[in-house]
Amino acid sequence: MYKIAVLPGDGTGPEVVAEGLKVLEAAGRKFNFKYELAHFDLGGERYLRTNEVLPETAVSELRQFQAIYLGAIGHPGVKPGILEKGILLRLRFELDQYINLRPVKLYPNVDTPLKNKGPADIDFVVVRENTEGLYAGAGGTLKKGTPDEIAVQESINTRKGVERCLRYAFEYARRRNKDNKLTLCGKTNVLTFAFDLWERVFHEIGERDYADVNRDYAHVDATCMWMIKNPEWFDVIVTDNMFGDIITDLGAMIQGGMGIAAGGNINPEGVSMFEPIGGSAPKYTGQNVINPLAAIGACQLMLDTLGETKAAAAIEQGIISTVAKLKSLSAGQMGYSTTQVGDLVARAVADA
Ligand code: IPM
Ligand code: MG
Repeated sequence: MYKIAVLPGDGTGPEVVAEGLKVLEAAGRKFNFKYELAHFDLGGERYLRTNEVLPETAVSELRQFQAIYLGAIGHPGVKPGILEKGILLRLRFELDQYINLRPVKLYPNVDTPLKNKGPADIDFVVVRENTEGLYAGAGGTLKKGTPDEIAVQESINTRKGVERCLRYAFEYARRRNKDNKLTLCGKTNVLTFAFDLWERVFHEIGERDYADVNRDYAHVDATCMWMIKNPEWFDVIVTDNMFGDIITDLGAMIQGGMGIAAGGNINPEGVSMFEPIGGSAPKYTGQNVINPLAAIGACQLMLDTLGETKAAAAIEQGIISTVAKLKSLSAGQMGYSTTQVGDLVARAVADA
């Protein structure tokens, strides 16, 4: 029995989560696993109502679950930063979800903006460090609002944090068994403290413990270039928090957009949280037009991480057969409604 916490969140979050849960139900029935859901009311609506971003008890309650399924956080009525920092980043940090796993995979019949590239070319995974770097919140301001204002934002990279992220990535590359290649994405030519640490640990543990995995390095700017020009060169990319944030938006675009891009905030020893990587898309709220496939993909990642690999594979096949029917992956242009897309995937899983 899996205990899953559901955080539908804001905007179109609840709509896409509902479709993900529909698919989860079909998968549970088909593959004989049981689960129990607990819904948490968190997000902008709640904040505006109660002035509380994340109740004190929420984090300790969430620790009791095996996984968290998140829709989207972000509300037009709330100043940017409050919910992102107060809910999403806080959960990532407090639950020590030190990996942000973001597959970049182009499915057949999905449009990519890359000319002459197809599913055989775009199939890699980004392992983004998820608790340190520029996101750690180190720094401060002095003389704020004056002409002499100083703003400092430091990137925190700990040996422990870097090593556990790299180990996860090496093991992932080994398990994935595609090209057996791990690319470290950094900026060793400029960020000579932070990426010196990353690079040393990368080669040190790579040589000693993962000699079967080929090590490759690319600067972050070059990584962006190759992701467009030669995405087929990548198998698994490992990088820090900020670079990972940036290159995974680029990755989402080449795999067909935010309608399909999913990710997992993973604590391999604790509670992980799965989410579509796009935002709450508030302007489409309640119209039954948003694409739920990213949320359904997040459900697939969740089941995969929980060890329900057959169910996860069936969901992926369901996504693949469904995208072939859609006119577009964009909200309002799919040729199907949100709930119909969920039905298509759920049916495919049931018939798997
Ligand atoms: C993401 C998002 C978040 C991040 C924001 C909403 C804080 O862009 O999950 O990639 O920067 O990590
Ligand atoms: Mg981002």
